[in-house]
Amino acid sequence: MPLYKKINRDKNTILFVWKIEEEFDDLFKIISLKETSLIRLLNMKSESHQRGFLAVRMLLLEAGYTDFDLYYDEFGKPHLVDGKQISISHSHDFSVIQVGDCKMGIDLEILKNKIVTIAPRFMDVMHLKNLNKEEKIKKATVVWGVKESIFKIKNEKGISFPNHIFENQFSLNDFGGIAQLKFNNTIEEYCFTFEFIENYALVCAFEKK
Ligand SMILES: CC(C)(COP(=O)(O)OP(=O)(O)OC[C@H]1O[C@@H](n2cnc3c(N)ncnc32)[C@H](O)[C@@H]1OP(=O)(O)O)[C@@H](O)C(=O)NCCC(=O)NCCS
Repeated sequence: MPLYKKINRDKNTILFVWKIEEEFDDLFKIISLKETSLIRLLNMKSESHQRGFLAVRMLLLEAGYTDFDLYYDEFGKPHLVDGKQISISHSHDFSVIQVGDCKMGIDLEILKNKIVTIAPRFMDVMHLKNLNKEEKIKKATVVWGVKESIFKIKNEKGISFPNHIFENQFSLNDFGGIAQLKFNNTIEEYCFTFEFIENYALVCAFEKK
């Protein structure tokens, strides 16, 4: 399928979602890759990862860029040559990118039962109280996505999800909330939004102005 969803978050920030239904060869035929990307693609162990990587390049085309406009820093964070901000996520059937002027991070996660079991390792489980099983899975997945998204904005070694990133209480009906990063003797506030696409949670975090 072509582009699954395009959402204008605000005047300057656009989210693009690709549902990956194409075979590897169909995507590979369309996409021109620079040499480093081609080497990376050919070294990927799973075809699912390769298709996710190529689908990101399909989204770049939708956003008016090509693989040649994208580069990565030493930590693996993606950047665009024109200085616009970009964040990337892919998971199984979907790839997403968001392009804009302000610093942001996005994360797409499939909803799985296991997240509730591991929740005490990364979040305040009081935030799961009084929820049914399905709601617990959704909320824990969103919190995980919030922490990944904030990590993607900060891109600094040593950030621990349970020890440094704290979500304020929020409800699944809010479709957003506030979180703090307490790291290196500073406290920074982030706002986040979330939505559900099929059986995935899509989270986006922004620096709070
Ligand atoms: C890097 C990391 C954020 C990627 O997240 P993920 O859920 O595994 O994978 P996603 O598909 O959502 O994101 C992958 C994309 O993130 C981007 N990315 C990778 N490293 C990044 C970084 N340091 N900063 C920002 N973005 C980064 C890349 O664009 C990558 O895709 P691409 O290489 O194909 O372009 C994650 O692996 C990580 O290191 N998290 C922090 C570690 C941690 O603290 N874990 C849990 C402790 S309880």
